[in-house]
Amino acid sequence: MPKKRKRAVKEKPGHRPGEAVHVLIPNARLKQRIKQMAREIRRDLPDDPLHLIGVLKGSVFFLSDLAQQLGGEVSFDFIAVSSYGKGTDSTGEVKLIKDLDVSIEGRTVLIVEDILDTGLTLKYLLLLFEERHPKHLRIAVLLDKIERRIADLKADYVGFVIPNEFVVGYGLDYDERYRNLPDVSVLRLGPRGKTKIE
Ligand code: IMP
Repeated sequence: MPKKRKRAVKEKPGHRPGEAVHVLIPNARLKQRIKQMAREIRRDLPDDPLHLIGVLKGSVFFLSDLAQQLGGEVSFDFIAVSSYGKGTDSTGEVKLIKDLDVSIEGRTVLIVEDILDTGLTLKYLLLLFEERHPKHLRIAVLLDKIERRIADLKADYVGFVIPNEFVVGYGLDYDERYRNLPDVSVLRLGPRGKTKIE
């Protein structure tokens, strides 16, 4: 009997064993929707200089694509908060890690966030920014997991409503990985997510 040769496990670069990603929203669809969102925002605020506040780090690609589509005067700043530990579950506690560089008093501010999940992060940011007296304060989120909401909060502009799945890519991470994937993908962990042996 000829000896059976062991087949090599094929893994996609950057994917760990036991983790698999499945595309949910391809990059082209993200870009198309972001273009529409920019039009909606400019329809509501046609003449105001817009001060975008990106919530680090997940919003970086969204902010970059949105800013390029918004006509008129646009500036940006960034804030960092932590609400998630290393895994896929929120701790429920929001902490300020990095504050804004410049004042938002009297400015038209658009908070740019990757995903609205429990809503606790954005609720915290709304309270923080309202105390600083901006002229207008609006929220744009790329993704909205409505089912998971704890805080009573709605974004003014929503890219996509998505199911209750943990997603990565286009800025979103799992344990700081997968942010660089161009599409938004569902991350599967455990045996179901195991890389297939081909
Ligand atoms: P919230 O405070 O529960 O609304 O969570 C907001 C933050 O949690 C987001 O800015 C993300 O950093 C993170 N988050 C929530 N859901 C996901 C997900 O599916 N993938 C990656 N990060 C997520």
